[in-house]
Amino acid sequence: MEAKLKVDKNFSISKVDPRLYGSFIEHMGRAVYEGIYQPDHPSADEEGFRTDVLELVKELNIPLVRYPGGNFLSGYNWEDGIGPVEKRPKRLDLAWRTVETNEIGLHEFFKWSEKANTEINMAVNLGTRGIDAARNLVEYCNFNGDSYWSNLRKSNGLDEPLNIKTWCLGNEMDGPWQIGHKTAEEYGRLAAETAKAMKLVDNSIELVVCGSSHSHMPTFGDWELTVLEHTYEYVDFLSLHQYYGNQEDDLENYLARSLDMDEFISGVIAICDAVKAKKHSKKTINLSFDEWNIWYHSNEHDEKVKPWQIAPPLLEDHYNFEDTLLLGCLLITLLKHSDRVKIACLAQLVNVIAPIMTNPNGEAWRQTIFYPFMQVSNYGRGTVLHPVVESEFYATNDFDKVPYLETIAVINEEKNELVIFAVNRAQETMDFRIELGELVLENVIEFSQISGSEIKKVNTEKEESIKPTTCKDYTLKEGINCQLQPLSWNMIRCSLGNKTQGGNSNEME
Ligand code: AHR
Repeated sequence: MEAKLKVDKNFSISKVDPRLYGSFIEHMGRAVYEGIYQPDHPSADEEGFRTDVLELVKELNIPLVRYPGGNFLSGYNWEDGIGPVEKRPKRLDLAWRTVETNEIGLHEFFKWSEKANTEINMAVNLGTRGIDAARNLVEYCNFNGDSYWSNLRKSNGLDEPLNIKTWCLGNEMDGPWQIGHKTAEEYGRLAAETAKAMKLVDNSIELVVCGSSHSHMPTFGDWELTVLEHTYEYVDFLSLHQYYGNQEDDLENYLARSLDMDEFISGVIAICDAVKAKKHSKKTINLSFDEWNIWYHSNEHDEKVKPWQIAPPLLEDHYNFEDTLLLGCLLITLLKHSDRVKIACLAQLVNVIAPIMTNPNGEAWRQTIFYPFMQVSNYGRGTVLHPVVESEFYATNDFDKVPYLETIAVINEEKNELVIFAVNRAQETMDFRIELGELVLENVIEFSQISGSEIKKVNTEKEESIKPTTCKDYTLKEGINCQLQPLSWNMIRCSLGNKTQGGNSNEME
């Protein structure tokens, strides 16, 4: 099978906002306790944070972490997580039917975020709380003057404001499962008034208003239209959430699920722009895909979990190789929409549907989905080029026209590098040709692949079976010619020459 990618440096989609490589930590399962924080673990630092986890988080190079939820958020009192730890209340978390000790709260998580070289994307509770709690939290975090909440922050040990820039107005408020679930009218009004008050405290913050919890919500479309009608002038982003699974065990259909993400994003952009036109607004609302991932392996286990435990294992999906491939396709899809999707959060980061797992009595380890995310987050920085793709197609139960090749190229102007990410969805080898227009290729720095026929293979703490291997099998002649293994994730990183010439002038063998 043959396939081709053509790029031209003059035809770009957008600069990538680094926040596209965000992630998410919710107070649930073993994400916080036994995840990022475990004071009795041999790797714990003086504040109880697992340094083995921190190392892996740094490998992922994550600029933003959404916190503290998730469904947990909609019953959370942020004030429970400040002040002396021994005085903090134990609370029932009704979302996951567990007990929250509040040992970790705002200050501790802020310290962790500094150690992890990341920023917090803070979410405010619009389920059981509202305007007052939200504006107080902004004052507590970001106000630099002499006021009740900022003085309380100082007395709790943080003199300088946290300067949190990105904020979420609640979580999945369209979902009947949400504590304090609202109609679009109810939520739209509350979100607008909360946004106004938050921005009155700190006008420099950016706000994300809740869109749909997934693309097949019965209220999808109407929800976005109504919520934006109320909030358009006060918010900056509209959120999308989506998880995929291979419940039917149909590989071809599963690997095509990124087409659903693509359609979902295009639909939400159209809705944002329809409201913009209707309002004659000059402002454009961008998208925050602030929960996305694969989630289904743990569903059966989680139905049997006993309620009211502290940090029980929940949503601990063990990802396999086919999940790596879909995750790669989803990442490429996000990049294709980088002109409008400015924030995205891989949900989640540690133990809960996560690239990083921990053994409380052992080590932290990388799941199969760790590597494509790590490679795209580290090397997919710069400007995304418009991909012109030639590929054969296939059809599945849910999708009529699925290209065997999923690919994108990103040019990193600072490093003078071009990086190509590609998934071969076919079960046969693909002769892949990349044409680079006026770009002058110097050499291939790295060609790495994840491939293999054992599609259900997983990683474990002891054995990392699914990880990139180096491939030397390419030639450079008027572009790049290489082979993509059947069912493979690929990254080709090239250095570019300084001068550009007309036509396809990369003659190097
Ligand atoms: O990430 C797990 C859960 O998925 C989150 O709590 C919720 O927002 C979504 O439904």
